[in-house]
Amino acid sequence: MRAAIAVLPGDGIGPEVVGEAKRVLAVVSEKWGHTFTLREALIGGAAIDATGSALPPETLEVARAADAVLLGAVGGPKWDDPRAKVRPEQGLLAIRKALGLYANLRPVAVNPKLLHASPLRPELLVGVDMLVVRELTGGSYFGDKLRDGDRAVDTCVYTVPEVERIVRTAARIARGRRKKLTSVDKANVLETSRLWREVTVRVMKDEFPDVVLSHMLVDACAMHLIRRPADFDVIVTENMFGDILTDEASMLAGSMGMLPSASLGEGKRGLYEPIHGSAPDIAGKGIANPYATILSIALLLRHSLGLEAEARAVEAAVAVAIDRGIWTADLAISGSAPASTTTAGDAVVDALRRGA
Ligand code: IPM
Ligand code: MG
Repeated sequence: MRAAIAVLPGDGIGPEVVGEAKRVLAVVSEKWGHTFTLREALIGGAAIDATGSALPPETLEVARAADAVLLGAVGGPKWDDPRAKVRPEQGLLAIRKALGLYANLRPVAVNPKLLHASPLRPELLVGVDMLVVRELTGGSYFGDKLRDGDRAVDTCVYTVPEVERIVRTAARIARGRRKKLTSVDKANVLETSRLWREVTVRVMKDEFPDVVLSHMLVDACAMHLIRRPADFDVIVTENMFGDILTDEASMLAGSMGMLPSASLGEGKRGLYEPIHGSAPDIAGKGIANPYATILSIALLLRHSLGLEAEARAVEAAVAVAIDRGIWTADLAISGSAPASTTTAGDAVVDALRRGA
C-alpha cells in the first residue's frame, strides 16, 4: 500500500527515538512492499526557535495531508520560562485539537523479561494487560484560563457529546478484550465527573450491556493500579486523570520508555507518540529508550493503515529484542552495561528482518 506519514521529531530525545522508529518503518516497507512517504516538519521548541510558533501552519498542513502522524516529544529547559508567551507543549495540544484526536489509547503490558525494571514486586505484575483510554481534547487542558494578579483559573469543561464519544470508543475496544470497563472520575467532588458518570452509565446500559462497567474514583484508582494492576482491562477517563495515571502505570511496564500511544478521532488518521517526554537530561547522549516510539509505529500500522500483520510483527520484534537482553539504561539491571538507542533499534530491525 501507499501511505503518507508526517514525522514530527520535536525536542530533546524526540529526534533520537524517532530516528529508530523510522528505521523500523523502512524495514516494514521493504519487507511487505509498501511505499511510505515520510515528510518531516517542526513542532514544539524546535518550531518556536525556527518560526516563533510551537505549531507552524506548514506543520499542520503536512499533518492534515498525511494518513498518520509520528511524533517524538516536545519541551525542554530552554523554553521553560513560566512567563513565556509560547510554550512547546502548546504545539502538541494544538495539533491534537486541530486534528480532532479526542481518544488517546495507552496500552500497558508487562514483558516478563522486564519484571526487574519495575519497582513493584514481580508477583503483582503477572497478567497485567490493560488499556487506558484517555480523553484528549477536553477538560482543564482546553478550558478557559485566566491570570489576574494573585489569582489563576483553569476551567474544566466537559459536554455530554464529548463524554459519549470517548465512552463509546473505550467500550467498543473493551468488547474485543475482556469486556471490563472501569470509568475513572472524581464524582464525589467535581461536577464534570458527575456528568461523566451519568453519561457513562446511560451509554453503557443502552449500547453496551455486554460490557461490565464499574466506576472508580481517581485517587482510589491510583492506589489500585499498584495494588492489583492485573484486574484492570480497559480504563476510560478524562484528560488530566489519564495523563497522571498513565505515568504511574508505566512503572508496571518498567519504564516510561515502554509505553506507546495512539491518538484517534473520527477518521483513520491518527497521531502516534510515546507517552514519555523529551527527557532533556539525557538528550543527545544516544541512551534513550526507543521502544515506546517503535511500539507507537505498530499502533500506527494497525489503526491508521489497517496493517495488522505488520503491526504484530513490529511488536514481536520488540519482544525479541527485549528477550535478548537489549536493555537501555532505564531497563538495565544495575551493574550491567546498558544498550544504546541505536543498539536497541538495531535489535528490532534485525528481528523484524529475520521475520520475528
Ligand atoms: C503526555 C504529556 C503531555 C500531556 C504534555 C507534554 C503536554 O505529558 O502526552 O502525556 O500532558 O498531554
Ligand atoms: Mg503525560
